Amino acid sequence: MAETQRVATLTLDGKTYELPVLSPTVGPDVLDIRKLYGQADVFTFDPGFTSTAACESEITYIDGDKGELLYRGYPIEQLAEKSHYLEVCYLLLNGELPNEKQMNDFEYRITRHTMLHEQILMFFRGFRRDSHPMATMVGVVGAMSSFYHDSLDINDPWQREVAAMRMIAKLPTIAAMAYKYSIGQPMVYPRNDLDYASNFLHMCFSVPAEPYVVKPELAKAMDRIMMLHADHEQNASTSTVRLAGSSGANPFACIAAGIACLWGPAHGGANQACLEMLREIGSVDRIPEYIARAKDKNDPFRLMGFGHRVYKNFDPRAKVMKESADEVLDLLGIHDNPILQVAKELEKIALEDDYFVSKKLYPNVDFYSGIILEAMGFPTAMFTPIFALSRTVGWISQWKEMLGDPTGKIGRPRQLYTGLPARDYREVKDR
Ligand code: CMC
Repeated sequence: MAETQRVATLTLDGKTYELPVLSPTVGPDVLDIRKLYGQADVFTFDPGFTSTAACESEITYIDGDKGELLYRGYPIEQLAEKSHYLEVCYLLLNGELPNEKQMNDFEYRITRHTMLHEQILMFFRGFRRDSHPMATMVGVVGAMSSFYHDSLDINDPWQREVAAMRMIAKLPTIAAMAYKYSIGQPMVYPRNDLDYASNFLHMCFSVPAEPYVVKPELAKAMDRIMMLHADHEQNASTSTVRLAGSSGANPFACIAAGIACLWGPAHGGANQACLEMLREIGSVDRIPEYIARAKDKNDPFRLMGFGHRVYKNFDPRAKVMKESADEVLDLLGIHDNPILQVAKELEKIALEDDYFVSKKLYPNVDFYSGIILEAMGFPTAMFTPIFALSRTVGWISQWKEMLGDPTGKIGRPRQLYTGLPARDYREVKDR
């Protein structure tokens, strides 16, 4: 970290405190308040972390005003066009794009870890048949720590590496099996002759009675969805993984925590919520009613798939995803789907409406990804699991980075206490 000679000064009760100004490689400067409590006996207050950098990281950079997203310095648009998911995984984990040999080795290792311990299949059966696949995933990924004892020691770099490989390789298998279980179909084993995205489609859509022939264009679109979701710096689920990992919890437990956090509709669950909202709207003539509800302060309804904490210009992932959505719908000959018509009209109205324009609420990645996934034949309940399996590499890269930071400490936020001061216990008869 480049530390400049600059300092900010804080004056409180007649005393002055110096706060060093830290300069990142790109992006806004950061005030270092680490010693503030010790020196001035005050905390800072920032619920939602809107102004707080919780860690130092070299992995992903977002410029919300420019609509820029970089993985290890590479723009997402270039990666989406020229790279592929496993190469992006290598990049996020290792910091550099692989040469040919490194890529082949990495791919070989990942494909040798795609199967699950056979006993995990019995574990699935403990879930209710109609469980949401995210519920199953949180449980099964957490349970991996009871199956893979040889990759739990976070202080052993080799075990950390094996845990990372296992999760990148097995999450698609777990997500696909959670889906198969939820619809009562036999689970389909992975095929290592297929690429990562094709194998996932195969595990979701083949049945023993009939193989699923993977269309290369759909596999490419799936691969792109995975790349676009692979990492997104310190979002809620990644911060959850870091916080869980900061206590020394094992990697499978940390990723299960990330999956749980991702599930919420304000985060990864927005893709499912968005498609459900489009269905609920149902027809173009009902859009004004929903726009009015979204603007109404007394109505908790929000346009799902719109807005972002960081992007205040456009979401660069949404731009690529929109192109991909158009390609997939063309390929599948879907033009008059009512949900699509509602989506297109909603996008148009919201982009012109003063409320959305002034608050900088643009369609985000979840708005378009749901349209593609629905066209591919996925039920809405699978949208967030696909986000989760794609984001796993980001979570692991951030977790590995955190463990490698010698200044790392357990995450322990403080609070602005507004409860009662100390008081004496009263016996029941006196209350
Ligand atoms: N529809 C209507 N109004 C909205 C929306 C929306 N989708 N999003 C924000 N607003 C309004 C909000 O009411 C507030 O208005 P005011 O200033 O008058 O009180 C203003 O815009 C700022 O909203 P905020 O909640 O303070 O913004 P935030 O940065 O805390 O929230 C967000 C960001 C993504 C949670 C929010 O925009 C949202 O709930 N969007 C819908 C859910 C969604 O699509 N989430 C996916 C995010 S992208 C994928 C991911 O990273 O997981």
